[in-house]
Amino acid sequence: MAEKSDAVTKVSKALLNQLNEAIARELQVAIQYMWQHVQWGGVKGFAVQSELRSIAIAEMKHAESIAERLYYLGGIPTTKPTPIFVGKTLKQMISQDVKDEENAIKLYTQIVEMARKEGDETTNRLFREILQQEEDHHDTFTTLLEDL
Ligand SMILES: [Fe+2]
Ligand SMILES: [Fe+2]
Repeated sequence: MAEKSDAVTKVSKALLNQLNEAIARELQVAIQYMWQHVQWGGVKGFAVQSELRSIAIAEMKHAESIAERLYYLGGIPTTKPTPIFVGKTLKQMISQDVKDEENAIKLYTQIVEMARKEGDETTNRLFREILQQEEDHHDTFTTLLEDL
């Protein structure tokens, strides 16, 4: 596939690589939360499953938005998720999800800063919006974990 090269905004290879890392992680959590939604069990799981479903869908939208931006900037979006961990118990599942949201917050804070330094306002704004949603997810999973 030919890479796009007509973007007005030019960014570093390092930033493109970080965007692909972000896509790999979004694909991971989209699948992870979806399969956790399918495999939930028990009374406590009943309260958790609809959150898992709606957050899984949000992560898929993040993957798509980031992929659109990466492609516009001349990169090719990865199709490979980072390793998926579903977990056997609800506690295992949600503990892992809290960590994955923490990692997303760290990575996206870096990307916001890189994009700002490189004068890429659109990527900066996109990741500030996504970052806010990851903080909400982190808050949701942390709160759910308290009762597991
Ligand atoms: Fe996300
Ligand atoms: Fe998230």
